[in-house]
Amino acid sequence: MVSLLVLNGPNLNLLGVREPDVYGRETLEDIMTHLGKVAAELGCAITHRQSNHEGDLIDAIHAARGVHDGLIINPGAFTHYCYALRDAIAAVNLPTIEVHLSNIHAREPFRHLSVIAPVALGQIVGLGASGYEWALRALVRHLQNSR
Ligand code: DQA
Repeated sequence: MVSLLVLNGPNLNLLGVREPDVYGRETLEDIMTHLGKVAAELGCAITHRQSNHEGDLIDAIHAARGVHDGLIINPGAFTHYCYALRDAIAAVNLPTIEVHLSNIHAREPFRHLSVIAPVALGQIVGLGASGYEWALRALVRHLQNSR
């Protein structure tokens, strides 16, 4: 069975109350509950972790080696400057899809750069909470096709 790790970075624990005009009104729990249902439909297992701490996210990525087949990550603001997170993803070499609820390319200039994108299989931005579902479906398809 395909097993995926879903990681959410800083401030995403506040989804639902945090800038709802930008990030929507669904909580992280709502989004992950829905994702769990889609995963069950697709016959894959997901493990979810949210952390506000760079090192926790890096440790979780390292621990995914040999345990999970792929990674879905919304790195929050770490996206824009955290080379250590990028290096962790490159190090474990797991197919990774980067997700952003908002369209980072249409926002402030500092959000236009993702240091994660060059080591990701793909990036889904601007589709709100459904971006996680599209990432899941795309990653499962990718893993099935590469078997
Ligand atoms: C975000 C976009 C980032 O720029 C921001 O710092 C976030 C959320 C998104 O999902 O749209 O925390 O990753």
